[in-house]
Amino acid sequence: MKIKIISGVAAMVFLTSVQAMGQKTLGEVTKGKFLFGVAVNSRQVIGISAIETELITREFSAIVGENCMKPQPIHPEENRFNWVDADKLVAFGEKNKQVVTGHCLIWHSQVGRWMFEDANGKDVSPEVLKERMHQHISAVVGRYKGRVKGWDVVNEAFEDNGTYRNSKYYQILGKNFIKYAFQFAREADPDAELYYNDYNVETPAKCDAIVALVKELRGEGCRIDAVGSQAHMHMNTPTLDATEASLKKLKAAGVKVLITEWDISILPSPFEGAEISTNFSYSAKMDPYRDAVPDSVQQKWNKRMLDMFGLFLKYSDVVDRVTIWGLTDNTTWLNNFPIRGRKDYPMLFDRNNQRKSVMDEMIKLAEKDK
Ligand code: G3I
Repeated sequence: MKIKIISGVAAMVFLTSVQAMGQKTLGEVTKGKFLFGVAVNSRQVIGISAIETELITREFSAIVGENCMKPQPIHPEENRFNWVDADKLVAFGEKNKQVVTGHCLIWHSQVGRWMFEDANGKDVSPEVLKERMHQHISAVVGRYKGRVKGWDVVNEAFEDNGTYRNSKYYQILGKNFIKYAFQFAREADPDAELYYNDYNVETPAKCDAIVALVKELRGEGCRIDAVGSQAHMHMNTPTLDATEASLKKLKAAGVKVLITEWDISILPSPFEGAEISTNFSYSAKMDPYRDAVPDSVQQKWNKRMLDMFGLFLKYSDVVDRVTIWGLTDNTTWLNNFPIRGRKDYPMLFDRNNQRKSVMDEMIKLAEKDK
């Protein structure tokens, strides 16, 4: 209770200063171009930090659950669903007039082993897995029918070289698991938009595989509205050119594009990608900005954010939403990935919940683009 009161007072002080300055928000200035969204965690939705909740509702036109709709948390056992956090997320979005999207229905990660195993721990047959997928998707999409704008139906089905990831879904059902997922999602809510989502979409072979998938799914009569490019970026990769090339390819394929999990890590990286099972051990060398980010590095990060944002604006005829994967430098997943316990600075708000100066530059850029 004490904590609540303190953070509530702090939020009021913060709000008064922001309102007094009459600052515009990215959610406002990108209206008519694309939705500007944020991934939120369950603590933020229930308002444990009043400041964070205020930032989310003030600055963004869309939200997505960072974790609460994933298969494992929402469907931990075959006959048990846990709707608590996801229900709150959807109600929060409705209350604050923010578009809610769903992440994610079918993913090789964060899914209970029960999905693939029989009572003896052996792989289930293709028929059983297909039926379990059907039940999962019908229940989740059906529950939020008409309230969730669109779903990341399948997440991360490809390797960077464009081959299918050898997931349990793939091992048991082959590539058809993707088609089934899109069919089941459409059946459960014919009006919801349906997306394929992946990281490193800027890698040509992966982008080509996704474009081929879009064509194949459409050829089979499936609905697919957009490709989600997660856009987990580093200081030097992907290049602006590679990012633009991927946007061009997706545009030519006739799908909308969503930038679904945007962040730019300021830290050195031992590898590229967002495969959550990857982990490296800690070393001070890989965590160089524990005290502060040097100005020259900060300027470089600012420029990269602005350049990428400018590109998204340039392609706003096909880019329907840009979502930042987290709110503040305190809460970003990148503090623990791919090395645990580092201090990263990839978000638009700092560790004191203050807007970073780059936001003003982004707002100017969006306004100039009108
Ligand atoms: O909820 C449990 C909690 O009950 C438990 O006590 C605690 C102890 O570790 O773990 C909590 O779960 C963690 C969860 O985040 C919620 O905080 C998981 O361990 C942790 O692995 C999980 O990490 C998430 C990760 O996906 C795996 O689901 C990150 O927050 C989330 O940012 C990240 O997001 C993914 C996208 O979904 C897909 N694209 C890549 C992106 C980054 O990996």
